[in-house]
Amino acid sequence: MKTMLITGATSGIGLAAARQLAADGHRLVLVGRDTGKLAAAADQVRAAGASAVDTYLCDIGSQASVRQLAHRVRAEHERIDVLANNAGGFTMRRTETTDGIETTFAVNHLGGFLLTELLLDLLIRSTPARILFTSSVMHYGATLDTEDLGFRHGYTPNAAYGRAKLANILYVRDLARRLQGTGVTANAFHPGAVATNIWDAAPRFTRPALALGKKLFMISPEEGARALTYLATDPDVSAVSGCYFQRNRVKAPTAAAQDDAAARRLHIACAESTGLSG
Ligand SMILES: NC(=O)c1ccc[n+]([C@@H]2O[C@H](COP(=O)([O-])OP(=O)(O)OC[C@H]3O[C@@H](n4cnc5c(N)ncnc54)[C@H](OP(=O)(O)O)[C@@H]3O)[C@@H](O)[C@H]2O)c1
Repeated sequence: MKTMLITGATSGIGLAAARQLAADGHRLVLVGRDTGKLAAAADQVRAAGASAVDTYLCDIGSQASVRQLAHRVRAEHERIDVLANNAGGFTMRRTETTDGIETTFAVNHLGGFLLTELLLDLLIRSTPARILFTSSVMHYGATLDTEDLGFRHGYTPNAAYGRAKLANILYVRDLARRLQGTGVTANAFHPGAVATNIWDAAPRFTRPALALGKKLFMISPEEGARALTYLATDPDVSAVSGCYFQRNRVKAPTAAAQDDAAARRLHIACAESTGLSG
């Protein structure tokens, strides 16, 4: 049985994936930002059959909180076989975290970047291990400006979200190169259009249409989670690394997401923003 850490495990895709992995008897390490939701998620995951469940409170948008999480996970776990960086969200207004980072980028990419970097040696010791990022088709059309990652200029909610999801794909591409030969893989995926709480951030006037869209066009969290559980467990993808998946198939991301020089620049910018050496 494997030990699998999932961020954003308190609702939607992360919680459904945790339940699916628990049903196979894996040990689940659930990360969330709300004590009550985390306890409720742990109850569900235990009931689904997990061989063990640990919970960690962490605001992925806070670097201090991510550092504390990594410190505790390293102290309390001998191995992590799967790290699923799944926490994410969408905001309508440009805001900044306590670290001074634009919130969408901090939550959807930089927190996962920092957690991954801080757990990298543990993952390498746990080989074969897998690193995942829940990215999105919203990376199509996104641009990367490492001089202005947080959109001080030209912010729109979609552009910020798309940029963070583009960063996920560039990062796993760069990670795969760095991790070659270690037995640790890194991939990103789009889970589909999934009826989860993420849509609650949409403007009020769009909500009736969204509610209808959820019913008619979106897949359930359980279906969306299968994309995560597939990449976490399927033997067919055990050696695939640096890729972007849609519907359990490798799909070419945009040209911007295949730009290795941009991936390097992004790594340096993220390392600087988090106080790690590039
Ligand atoms: N739904 C879709 O159609 C879709 C499509 C493509 C990609 N995605 C991606 O899928 C991932 C999961 O989203 P979802 O659709 O399942 O939405 P969701 O139900 O809103 O789940 C998001 C999860 O992330 C957690 N989270 C948000 N901000 C956080 C923070 N600052 N610190 C710690 N945890 C935080 C949430 O915690 P709380 O429970 O406390 O809110 C929740 O557990 C996200 O990365 C999202 O961008 C979703």
